[in-house]
Amino acid sequence: LISGSGSNLQALMDDATNGGAFEIVAVSSKRADAGGLERARRAGIPAEVLDHRDYAGREPYEAELRTLIDRYAPGLVILAGFMRILTPAFVEHYAGRMLNIHPSLLPKFRGLQTHQRALDADEREHGASVHFVTPELDGGPVVIQARLSIHPGEDAATLAQRVLTLEHVIYPRAVGWFAQGRLRLGEDGRPRLDGAPLLSPIRLD
Ligand code: GAR
Repeated sequence: LISGSGSNLQALMDDATNGGAFEIVAVSSKRADAGGLERARRAGIPAEVLDHRDYAGREPYEAELRTLIDRYAPGLVILAGFMRILTPAFVEHYAGRMLNIHPSLLPKFRGLQTHQRALDADEREHGASVHFVTPELDGGPVVIQARLSIHPGEDAATLAQRVLTLEHVIYPRAVGWFAQGRLRLGEDGRPRLDGAPLLSPIRLD
């Protein structure tokens, strides 16, 4: 599920076509003008727009989104820059089979404007996290994080671009682990990689 330029989607599609363990079966966008739709169509992947503004409320919108997703019966639902808060009922339906990527070192800076907030907080490090989605916004258990050092005087746009480059590395990796059956969400709510609970996220520095 995307909303924007779809560069993470592109990284996933590239991995899938270069021997990755998974296949992207369909793409759905919140916006008709999302660049990611064109990327998907170019790759021959069904791409559909579902705009919440066309629905009378959250429930009919999410019911339609769920129908659309389940029509493709994916093993995993991947939120790749999907900028919409999902209800607990929707999230529960995909418990343990929905991942998100978030541009911060969670649990720091949930929500929006993460790069500017990291700069404003005088953080020395910043990065991105891939996590299983739970009803708590950006609060699900983190699988893998990539971190970088913030350069002196760096602005939010440059930082966002550098973080995005790391996102393109960690997201295919986590999705690949899931597709290979190596990554699961344990019943205790902790991710398990190769059968062992992750006591802390895998780190890529
Ligand atoms: C990425 O930086 C992703 O982490 C972020 O949106 C961007 C999407 O870029 N996601 C969130 O902020 C989710 N709350 P992309 O469309 O080029 O993949």
